[in-house]
Amino acid sequence: MIPDKLHEERVLILDFGSQYTQNIARKVRECKVYCEIVPFDTPLDKIREFAPKGIILSGGPASVLQKDSPLCDPQVFQLKIPVLGICYGMQLMGHLLKGEVNPSNHREYGRAHLMVREFTHLLQNVNNGSMVWMSHGDKITRLPPGFKSLAFTDNSPYAAIEHSRDKLFGLQFHPEVVHTIEGKQILQNFLYDICSCKPEWEMGRLADYSIQNIQEQIGPQGKAICALSGGVDSSVVAVLMHKAIGDRLTCIFIDNGLLRHGEREKVEETFRGHFKIDLKVVDASERFLKRLEGVTDPEAKRKIIGNTFIEVFEEEGKTLKEVAFLGQGTLYPDVIESVPVKGGPSVTIKTHHNVGGLPEKMHFKLVEPLRELFKDEVRELGREIGVPEEIISRQPFPGPGLAIRILGAVTGEGLAILREADKIILEEIKSAGLYQKIWQSFAVLLPVKTVGVMGDSRTYENVIGIRAVNSTDGMTADWVQLPYDLLGKMSNRIINEVQGVNRVVYDISSKPPSTIEWE
Ligand code: XMP
Repeated sequence: MIPDKLHEERVLILDFGSQYTQNIARKVRECKVYCEIVPFDTPLDKIREFAPKGIILSGGPASVLQKDSPLCDPQVFQLKIPVLGICYGMQLMGHLLKGEVNPSNHREYGRAHLMVREFTHLLQNVNNGSMVWMSHGDKITRLPPGFKSLAFTDNSPYAAIEHSRDKLFGLQFHPEVVHTIEGKQILQNFLYDICSCKPEWEMGRLADYSIQNIQEQIGPQGKAICALSGGVDSSVVAVLMHKAIGDRLTCIFIDNGLLRHGEREKVEETFRGHFKIDLKVVDASERFLKRLEGVTDPEAKRKIIGNTFIEVFEEEGKTLKEVAFLGQGTLYPDVIESVPVKGGPSVTIKTHHNVGGLPEKMHFKLVEPLRELFKDEVRELGREIGVPEEIISRQPFPGPGLAIRILGAVTGEGLAILREADKIILEEIKSAGLYQKIWQSFAVLLPVKTVGVMGDSRTYENVIGIRAVNSTDGMTADWVQLPYDLLGKMSNRIINEVQGVNRVVYDISSKPPSTIEWE
């Protein structure tokens, strides 16, 4: 990373594999301080080169008492840079600096109340008895030399510790999770007071910085293309690039025939109409649908769609002469080098397809202006540069589109039914004021027919499933308890208005063990 004004006040997070590491980074950035996550064993030179104003050691699933526990270079504590160890990070501090760590008699999970002994530095303006969130098996039983305890809980005599001369701090609890009520205050104390960081990571400044960076990368004559999906990430990339290089940018939108009602028109209206971006709409629906004919296996469908997308995009790329750059919506979570955690998932559940990951053999130079950002920051940046709220707060929609919501083979008739039913669900969710409160809400077309009666006649028609879930990152999700009258209204409308449907069911499964999409 190139040091510059915007990134000057920066903090480094050493990741020991905690499920909360990204939360730490997001909280730090919410405090308007730039930070990056690196693996726990990042060499000292690299840390020095980054020149952070503070270092945070994350939690992690290991125990410092294990033989092969993950360690950072002990010199990290001698750099004269303030260090904050969280949970495992604090125990590691205790272990490496010659204190004592032991397994706890009572493992401590969930809420605890922080009894503060000293309201200095790290704990200034924190209320006594404030709720904090614990998740640990080991604990420090003897402090390393020079440390003192700032606070305790029922189970942890050393819930917060400090070495004031060396500016080393530890928290046994997790300030980065919402259940730690005053976690943000504690992090702010560390960042502003202890590390002397100024809150300068602001989206307005970031927009200018990104636009300037794109201009420098592409140069005064260079041309670029950008694959637009209509989702948040690719839209923000397109608008940023357009602001940077104007009509030297061409956006390509591929209509794969698997889009929802009105989606293509919306993209045309927004980007061509509103932003005046040179938008090329490629109708490849026939090619996609032909290749999907008779294919029922979900993974096969996903692969066909992914490969066809790349093929069409490559063909289009070739027709645009002298284009050397490709804009991509890579986000920071895609870039973070993950720390292997024992027992983590390794099997492929689904092959994901995004507009990102276009083939390397295309020889484009990549422009990735969102590489440093989390999703919520992309949304904020998007608002800053005038991307319409409708796009910013759009629910996620998968790359393979409606194909993975039609169980079994994709047909024209199936698509027409699903599109209509989906439109009704979204209309009703929106008019109930729930669209932005729900992660995703959509229709699924099941591969069965059931018997019904309409008027005095027997029907034998399709079933639509309604899926509505809440999630924070798509990794886990719970079904939403939609009001019965809303479900009733959707069901009524779908059965009455969509030809070929005589039954509607509601999916009440969480992820895990189900997934959000049905295929
Ligand atoms: P699952 O079904 O795996 O979905 O629980 C998790 C989240 O990912 C979305 N999804 C995709 N997004 N390309 C995407 O860009 C894909 O191939 C894809 N498959 C699933 C899904 O809608 C949910 O938000």
